[in-house]
Amino acid sequence: MKILVTGGLGYIGSHVTTLLLDKDFEVLCLDNLENSSESVLDGINKITGKSPIFENIDIRDKSSLRILLDEHVDIKGVIHFAAYKAVEESHKIPLDYYQNNVVGLLNLLELISTKRIPLIFSSSCTVYGQAKKLPIKESTPYQPPTSPYGYTKQVGEQIIKHTCKAYPNFSAISLRYFNPIGAHPTSKIGENPRGVPQNLVPFLTQTVMGKHSVLKVFGSNYNTPDGTCIRDYIHVMDLAQAHIDSLDFLISNEKSIYETFNVGTGSGVSVLELIKTFEKVTGEEVPFEYNEPRTGDTEAAFADIKKIEKKIGWKSKYSLEEALKNAWEWEKNQ
Ligand code: NAD
Ligand code: UD1
Repeated sequence: MKILVTGGLGYIGSHVTTLLLDKDFEVLCLDNLENSSESVLDGINKITGKSPIFENIDIRDKSSLRILLDEHVDIKGVIHFAAYKAVEESHKIPLDYYQNNVVGLLNLLELISTKRIPLIFSSSCTVYGQAKKLPIKESTPYQPPTSPYGYTKQVGEQIIKHTCKAYPNFSAISLRYFNPIGAHPTSKIGENPRGVPQNLVPFLTQTVMGKHSVLKVFGSNYNTPDGTCIRDYIHVMDLAQAHIDSLDFLISNEKSIYETFNVGTGSGVSVLELIKTFEKVTGEEVPFEYNEPRTGDTEAAFADIKKIEKKIGWKSKYSLEEALKNAWEWEKNQ
């Protein structure tokens, strides 16, 4: 069975591609390589002994996308990762973010919605903004997001929901990722951030590697047990498996559906706890200092995962220790 993976050579897409190939799906990877490289294909091949079909196409280019879908009439599902994802950057170039994340999605939907090809969409816990109640359930209403990036995810979800309503044979799932971290346990693929990483774990591993002098912990006076922010860190392999299970659910479901699911561990971890856990599992010391809170940061966010457990049968398996160990091994392997 052939699956189209947009952004398939990126961080999450490459991990999903390995699991799809392991499960004997035929994978068509589309990527414009803006935030990845063809060398990821080698890593995928070393892990699985197989290769996806690769096409260097931009999802904003609708005519190329149409030609691709006409060539591959046997696509049975689409997993859509191709997008921009840097929160900070989205404040500086909002139009690029709306163009890529929203227009790119529209292009894809126009071509697949009438063909009954189900879709899995990469959404984010950012759609909740600062939720008033924890853990965060899928039914929690949207709060205004703190960035243009966050708006693209809210808008994306709404566009997909309305499309499912209008085309009764079209089904989709939006997966709201909490904080993906870690790398493939073989260290053959992982996260390759462009420039200086803004996210905690890649910045931390690079700091321990000596690329930065110190990790700044943003805020120490939050209303949390140790004063630092709390997040739900999910191993990228667990996150990848959630896509496989969601795909099975979509393909086996006769009825048209639109669902949103949180993908997290269900546990909150503070920045300080994460640093201490990293030090424990790697034996390395993390040079860090407390800093002012980062604008737009939410104090605490972790997922209620009952819905995905009940409906899809997915639950995370990897521990925070394994995720941090794999992130460190990947960093050392660079
Ligand atoms: P990534 O940047 O590593 O992967 C995205 C891939 O898409 C890259 O390989 C990039 O080259 C490609 N791409 C970007 N624009 C494209 C275009 N116009 N045409 C074709 N290819 C294009 O990002 P990721 O971390 O793997 O994230 C994947 C998805 O998950 C994104 O939609 C992101 O918003 C979402 N998400 C990520 C996180 C996270 O923390 N990583 C959290 C929540 C949601
Ligand atoms: C952000 C986005 C989320 C996006 C994710 C991955 C928001 C509200 N959240 O999550 O949508 O999917 O990035 O791109 O926009 N921290 C430090 N020092 C650092 C870096 C981070 O202390 O150098 C802290 C932050 O304050 C936060 C935690 O670490 O408490 C995690 O930060 P980060 O990895 O950037 O992810 P989020 O901000 O949670």
